[in-house]
Amino acid sequence: MSETNESSTPAPQAGGDDAAKPEAPKPAAAAAAPKPAAPAAAKPAAAAAAKPAKKPAEPLPPPPVLATRRSFLAWGLGAWSIFGLWMAGVGHLFLRFMFPRVLYEPDPKFLAGRKSDFPEVGKVYEEFKEGQGVWLVRLVEGGEDHLVALSTVCTHLGCTPNWLETEGKFKCPCHGSGFYMTGINFEGPAPRPLERYRLFQDAGGNIIVDRGTKFREDLAQWGSPGSFLKMG
Ligand code: FES
Repeated sequence: MSETNESSTPAPQAGGDDAAKPEAPKPAAAAAAPKPAAPAAAKPAAAAAAKPAKKPAEPLPPPPVLATRRSFLAWGLGAWSIFGLWMAGVGHLFLRFMFPRVLYEPDPKFLAGRKSDFPEVGKVYEEFKEGQGVWLVRLVEGGEDHLVALSTVCTHLGCTPNWLETEGKFKCPCHGSGFYMTGINFEGPAPRPLERYRLFQDAGGNIIVDRGTKFREDLAQWGSPGSFLKMG
């Protein structure tokens, strides 16, 4: 370095004018010249120096103490909860055993009234259609005045037909089956007449309809006792 400077610039003379002059700036090329690369052996040492020093291992925390008062209460509460659930299950099974589920069917019989409540011949009485699924029809059959109890279930697929007073027929809204006042089918896909229920008078003269007993025309049951009630 010193050799380079000596060769490129003349040395100042002691005591001369040049001694007071400031040193000339170095050329820009020399300032910007890249520094020589450091030897490769210095790299690992520098990397090792950059790495943080290993911390000493911290001591493990002490094991939890289970037998504290709070943990004891929590365990006791859990145990009692499980025991309570188990007792509830056992109690439920016991009650099911003592009181088995029994399906209580409603009484198929119902009180329809008295003969005087059906005064008109050739009339369909609809007051029991919704609640009981029965039409009471007063009509003349074989020259006799009868009261019959017709089922409101269509014999095709079980829909409920409507009584059309002006047309004098039952008409099913589902597929168009038609039935006469007697219950005989005459149009649509219904394969057979409506069914009739048993009806009779009790000792007090009340008319009782029994939906537990049915009569089918196609089985020649409409002439059986109980399939109609004589009026008049
Ligand atoms: S259910 Fe009545 S016609 Fe089909």
